[in-house]
Amino acid sequence: MANQVRAQAETSLEARVLGLLAGKPALLADPFPTWNEVRETRPLLTTAGALVLTRHRDVRELLGDNFTMYSRQQSRHSRRYDEARARFSSLAQTSFDYVMDQEFGQLVRMDPPDHLRVRKVVTPPFTARNLAREMEPKVQGRLDAKLDALASVDGVVDFKEFAYTFPLEVLGDLLGIPLEDLDSIHEWAHVIAENKLNADSEEAAISADSAYRGLLGYVDRLIATQRASTESTGVVSALLLAEGDGQISHDEARQMLALMLFAGHETTSNLLAIGMRDLLRHPDQWRLLCDAPDDLANPAVEELLRFVTPANFTQYVTARPIEIDGIAFAQGEAVIGVSAAANRDPEVFARPDDLDITREDAKYHLSLGLGPHFCIGAGLARMEATKLFRAMAERFPDARLVPGDIQWGGRSLRTPITLPLILHP
Ligand code: HEM
Repeated sequence: MANQVRAQAETSLEARVLGLLAGKPALLADPFPTWNEVRETRPLLTTAGALVLTRHRDVRELLGDNFTMYSRQQSRHSRRYDEARARFSSLAQTSFDYVMDQEFGQLVRMDPPDHLRVRKVVTPPFTARNLAREMEPKVQGRLDAKLDALASVDGVVDFKEFAYTFPLEVLGDLLGIPLEDLDSIHEWAHVIAENKLNADSEEAAISADSAYRGLLGYVDRLIATQRASTESTGVVSALLLAEGDGQISHDEARQMLALMLFAGHETTSNLLAIGMRDLLRHPDQWRLLCDAPDDLANPAVEELLRFVTPANFTQYVTARPIEIDGIAFAQGEAVIGVSAAANRDPEVFARPDDLDITREDAKYHLSLGLGPHFCIGAGLARMEATKLFRAMAERFPDARLVPGDIQWGGRSLRTPITLPLILHP
């Protein structure tokens, strides 16, 4: 009997993990109890053809060492994807292959030596100096204009709408994209985020296929326009110069732009939207921030990165046979690193389920990755978030959530569909 009860509990834990990996909205509402339970009871859980890592030390090692122990590129041929592909209809297989070609042509899925060769081309525009000079005034300008518009609304505002248009407009400034094109980019990026490397659904593969075609078609037009222009912006001109020099291929240049449009948008939007919600759900923390926005906006962003974990998990594959806690894993095993679980690991963070914007250990979060694939846009995302939370605390200290459940979407990028707020007393 006891065994039967244990077996049921196990099944339900695994079912919840599978649900989270597949992006079931009801589970996305609060994934942390499930991830905490996995970390505490099954830190080396194998399910859905993948080893699921949830302890901070394991996820840190996974992200930090993907040159020898773990590989991004080889994950394309992992058992997890091969089995998924075999289950799909031939139409969905064609889409799945196309989506995999796009995903695995991007920097974030490359291994050395290609990874460093391509990465070096796009890092200069993101140095602290260049960001301060080129992007800071633009970010401030976008933010002020959007907050003025928000302030003029009497009644309920959808803060989610704000939280996705603000980083998107900043990306537009970064890459030289006109405002009127941003809605289509949001649509494509959102479909790709919902379906990202989803090994669980044929529909996901088919809709991601058409979203990628839309996004890449747009990127081709952007490259053509900027090639003809003398005012090409930092990132795009760096890519075009490197392509001209033979340092990267044309396909690598277009995939880099597609990745930025995707990677720099939904992630930042989630940090801003969920971060605002979490601050307002913890009135003591919101009050602290409102009382000292200049001092606490920076640490609040670090703590919200930890607490929210905008990108909940990432996928790799073992590059050689490995052993964890004396258990052997063969080469070629799919490995999913759940940063959302690692960021709540009590071995690293005191009272991990408490939001505490004054905590000093927040900086050990893994939300922006680590090691070779560490987020290129980290400085830009931190700049946007710090400015936003500081300004919200200064301008709208009476902000409050409209009671009611939030609808959730996305997968590894867990996304609130709307976030109704009242800003004025
Ligand atoms: C809060 C916002 C953001 C979060 C949480 C975030 C998170 C991440 C994470 C976790 C990775 C590593 C992925 C992995 O190892 O699989 C990553 C990589 C990357 N991010 Fe971000 N990101 C954010 C904002 C941005 C922005 C604003 C940009 C660009 C404008 C950007 C561009 C990139 C790129 C290009 C990579 C790939 C780096 C590589 O593979 O070498 N990200 N990001």
